[in-house]
Amino acid sequence: MSSEAGYRVAVLGATGLVGRTMIKVLEERDFPVSELVPLASPRSRGEVITFKGREFVTEVPSAEIFEGVDIALFSAGASASKEWAPVAAAAGAIVIDNSSAFRMDEGIPLVVPEVNPESIFDREGKAAPIIANPNCSTIQMVVALKPLYDAYGIRRVVVSTYQSVTGKGKAGRDALESELAGNIPDEFTHFHQIAFNAVPQIDAFTDNGYTKEEMKMVNETRKILDDQELQVSPTTVRIPVYGGHGESLNVELRSDFDIEEVRALLAGSPGIVMQDDPSARLYPMPMTSYERDEVFVGRLRPDYWHPRTLNLWVVADNLRKGAATNAVQIAELLVGNL
Ligand SMILES: NC(=O)c1ccc[n+]([C@@H]2O[C@H](COP(=O)([O-])OP(=O)(O)OC[C@H]3O[C@@H](n4cnc5c(N)ncnc54)[C@H](OP(=O)(O)O)[C@@H]3O)[C@@H](O)[C@H]2O)c1
Repeated sequence: MSSEAGYRVAVLGATGLVGRTMIKVLEERDFPVSELVPLASPRSRGEVITFKGREFVTEVPSAEIFEGVDIALFSAGASASKEWAPVAAAAGAIVIDNSSAFRMDEGIPLVVPEVNPESIFDREGKAAPIIANPNCSTIQMVVALKPLYDAYGIRRVVVSTYQSVTGKGKAGRDALESELAGNIPDEFTHFHQIAFNAVPQIDAFTDNGYTKEEMKMVNETRKILDDQELQVSPTTVRIPVYGGHGESLNVELRSDFDIEEVRALLAGSPGIVMQDDPSARLYPMPMTSYERDEVFVGRLRPDYWHPRTLNLWVVADNLRKGAATNAVQIAELLVGNL
């Protein structure tokens, strides 16, 4: 399937915030693309997308269009994924899906390359036909948790998120801009006014009083770290920022730690940049994580009261590491293995 020139790569959702970022990241990381196949809804049919100086015309998905596609990056929402991922996979493409459609399905790997890259392949080394990209808030959290998990074990994580409006796509971003311009819509995109506000609801509530976003963080974290004993206690909050999501984590480990050892461990772990110097007011922020691929960690300190427990603050660009970059990193693991 692969050729010297590279892979035919389809991007479903190519005109969305995540899809556009995927195309940018493919170009930046010089992913071997022989041909780009941008796909979106009929609204965007014909839109020209420039990739490495070449122009590609956006089409709508169909069974024929996936013929000959090697890798299909999906970011068009769960219903489009449910409809088109089986079609693309049947045509021989490996689908890397950003939506929630398949994340918790048995047999579908849920992958963060810094954490569980091995789960992409079966015992014979064959890649799964559909690979799920986790939720943005989960991805940045597990990148920070993985080194702690391996070194000390983790019993419980209490997490509160401060999530960018871009997590709700173009509509989420445009809603903030429109409200800031003084428009009051009939129905708020973020359930309430988001300008100058913080809304402690992301997605719908489930019967247990947690939102779907919160339950994604619970279930996906346990699947990625392959630990059904791990307790994750989340509160997810939308705030009026661009640039990235912030997360305050209170992590109870299974063994004693030395805080300077933890700092060195995190600083040396893949995908993490430590920004932690209170005397210089250095700590991660959405503005400084914008357009960056790494996960930023700071405000590291032992819990004041509780033994074997520490606090940290984790920020990442949700459109990059929380979505596009993670998907492209998964595609990079497939290079030479298709
Ligand atoms: N934003 C984030 O931080 C983030 C993070 C992780 C995962 N995700 C997931 O990524 C997906 C896309 O998010 P986004 O933020 O990029 O949303 P977005 O900005 O609203 O873009 C949605 C994209 O999907 C296309 N699309 C919608 N319905 C379609 C259909 N039925 N058939 C074909 N294409 C269709 C849209 O095409 P048109 O332009 O033609 O409408 C657009 O290209 C969602 O599943 C989301 O949950 C988002």
